[in-house]
Amino acid sequence: MQWLNKKAFDAEKYREMVRSHQESNDPTGWFDHIYRSAEGDHSAVFWADLAPNPCLVEWLKVNPDIGLGKKAIAVGCGVGDDAEIMTKYGYKVTAFDIAPSAIELCKNRYPESKVDYLVADLFDYPSAWSEAFDLVYECNTIQVLPGKYRIQARDAMISLLAKQGDLLVSCRSRLAGEQENDIPLPLDRYEIDGFVRSGLSEKNFLAYDDDQEPPVPHFWAWYRKA
Ligand SMILES: C[S@@+](CC[C@H](N)C(=O)[O-])C[C@H]1O[C@@H](n2cnc3c(N)ncnc32)[C@H](O)[C@@H]1O
Repeated sequence: MQWLNKKAFDAEKYREMVRSHQESNDPTGWFDHIYRSAEGDHSAVFWADLAPNPCLVEWLKVNPDIGLGKKAIAVGCGVGDDAEIMTKYGYKVTAFDIAPSAIELCKNRYPESKVDYLVADLFDYPSAWSEAFDLVYECNTIQVLPGKYRIQARDAMISLLAKQGDLLVSCRSRLAGEQENDIPLPLDRYEIDGFVRSGLSEKNFLAYDDDQEPPVPHFWAWYRKA
């Protein structure tokens, strides 16, 4: 994820805005602003890579039989690249975001899409979604939330999973005790292991540096519900 190089992006202003929402207990109140500032141009969203996550692409390639006809959901789908690639591997994909302008960008970007894009809140999702998905995909949502909301987000992601379902998590990572005031706040190993403490089994776990300069450490994890 490129944080600093999209046109007119002021990193310090951005962090101030996020901090002020977090301090007034409104941790999700700022996302729509980011997408609205792009003024209809998905390529102007500063955190959008405009390509599917390479770890997801590799996972889909290596496990092509898992997806056929199954239901997947992309949490905090942003501008839609990851949701779109999942449909190409046979999933019936729902993709949601709390930011209405993100969903508008997705619909304009992919007018013929098979993905069901909609506005929804992970913390208050439609009841029919509970335990309804064979694959839950999360990329970089937990890390933009503070404190207790991170745990609530993890638990809500798990609650979307059907029995025997798979959960994929992609995020920035940090060593325990380091970068504690960063925005976004990367996950440390203890925090991401919360998926296992909450009852999922770990099928695969990768800690790696991405290809930015300087490289940014990341986690990629695959969990399964019993
Ligand atoms: C850092 S962005 C990542 C977007 C996309 N997953 C990506 O990797 O490019 C985090 C996304 O999560 C969304 N989000 C944050 N809290 C949410 C919530 N409670 N429910 C749904 N979406 C949420 C934000 O609007 C934003 O689009």
